[in-house]
Amino acid sequence: MAKTKATDILSLIEAEHRQVEQLFVKAEKAKGSKLYEYFSQIYKILSLHSRTEELIFYPALEEYEETEQYVEEAEEEHEEISFILEEIKVLRPNNPEFSEKMNELKEVAQYHLEQEEGEIFTAVRECMDEQELTELGEEYQKAKAELKPEVEAALSF
Ligand SMILES: [Fe+2]
Ligand SMILES: [Fe+2]
Repeated sequence: MAKTKATDILSLIEAEHRQVEQLFVKAEKAKGSKLYEYFSQIYKILSLHSRTEELIFYPALEEYEETEQYVEEAEEEHEEISFILEEIKVLRPNNPEFSEKMNELKEVAQYHLEQEEGEIFTAVRECMDEQELTELGEEYQKAKAELKPEVEAALSF
C-alpha cells in the first residue's frame, strides 16, 4: 500500500469519498458476480472509512464548539449505512432487492458524504489549522492501516 506523506485529514477523507462514488457508478452498470464484487469493495471501503472517522476525525470534532454539534447526526448516518451494508451482504446479486438496497445505500451515503464535505468541513476549517489537520491525517492513516485486517475479515463468509 502506498504511503502518503503529510496529507491533511480532509484530503484523505475526500479522496475516499470519491472512490466510493466511482464504485457506485460501476455497480449501477454491473450484474451478477461483478455486481457483488463492486458491492464488496464498497462494503470494505465504507466500513473502514466510517470506523476510522469515528476513531480519529469525530473525536477531533468534539473538541471544538464549532464542530461538536455535527457528531451525533454523523454517527447516526454511519449506523444507517452500516445497517444497509449488512442487509445487502446476505442477498444474492440477482435478487431484485439487491439493486433496490444498493440504491438506498447510495442515497444515504451520498447525503452523508455531502454533509461532511459541506457543513462539517467548512466548520472544521474555521477552527483547525493546517498543522492540526496534517497531524490528524497521519493519525487517520495509521488507524486505518490497523483496522484494515479486521474489516476485511468481516466480509469473508
Ligand atoms: Fe462519515
Ligand atoms: Fe466520510
